[in-house]
Amino acid sequence: MSNNPIGIFDSGVGGTSIWKEIHGLLPYEDTIYLSDSINAPYGPKGTEKIKELSIKNTELLLKKGCKIIVVACNTATTNAIAYLRNTYDVPFIGIEPAIKPAALNTKTNAIGILATKGTLSSALFSETSDRFASHIKVIEREGKGIVELIENGRLYSDTMRALLLEYLQPMLNANIDHLVLGCTHYPYLIPILLELLPNHVKIIDSGEAVARQTKAVLEKNNLLNLSAEAINLKFYTNGSIDVMYSLLGKGFDVKHLNF
Ligand code: DGL
Repeated sequence: MSNNPIGIFDSGVGGTSIWKEIHGLLPYEDTIYLSDSINAPYGPKGTEKIKELSIKNTELLLKKGCKIIVVACNTATTNAIAYLRNTYDVPFIGIEPAIKPAALNTKTNAIGILATKGTLSSALFSETSDRFASHIKVIEREGKGIVELIENGRLYSDTMRALLLEYLQPMLNANIDHLVLGCTHYPYLIPILLELLPNHVKIIDSGEAVARQTKAVLEKNNLLNLSAEAINLKFYTNGSIDVMYSLLGKGFDVKHLNF
């Protein structure tokens, strides 16, 4: 089992930002990435539909022999991971907006959170927010339209800049000093955000923490791949292969698959 791949899924191409962190930390592990781009965005779909899509992705990864599943999507994690953990035997790793470090380190007592509607309205998000950030000002904004632009290959567009300016303005008015990226598509916005935000605003995302947690859970379950065989990195998308390449770089094994 330890030679089996790590399965990773997202509502689209965004979770490749998490795949990069995982592959960087665990370069000897096989991975299979599923980009459910045809159903992106998950954010506005409601919990039942998000669960259904998460089940579909999980079952495909399990059929391909994955030993652990990384839900590389904040929206799927906050709406479906409890169900997945209760239903399947493999370990699951999820990702949630990193409110805690932002709330602990803020000096202005104001932090911004950019995430999808599905994440911001989830019970898990409000629990975490109440637990760690009830003493500070939290300015939440739904990143409406951002996932769609990235999925359509329009990351560096005027429309994207205009949307970001609109979403950041109330946060800047409230004098935030931390911006939490609550969606795995958003790390790809960092070069643009660095241009739009004042220098003192720290951008926080959870990718590295997810990779560390994946390693720790593999270790704990004796699932780390200790063999010296060549690794296999597979990417499946039911959307555009070109958009996957634009984020990953060429040279990867990206295939189209209907799922
Ligand atoms: N990457 C997903 C996330 O982390 C995007 C959600 C969506 O498809 O709306 O939430």
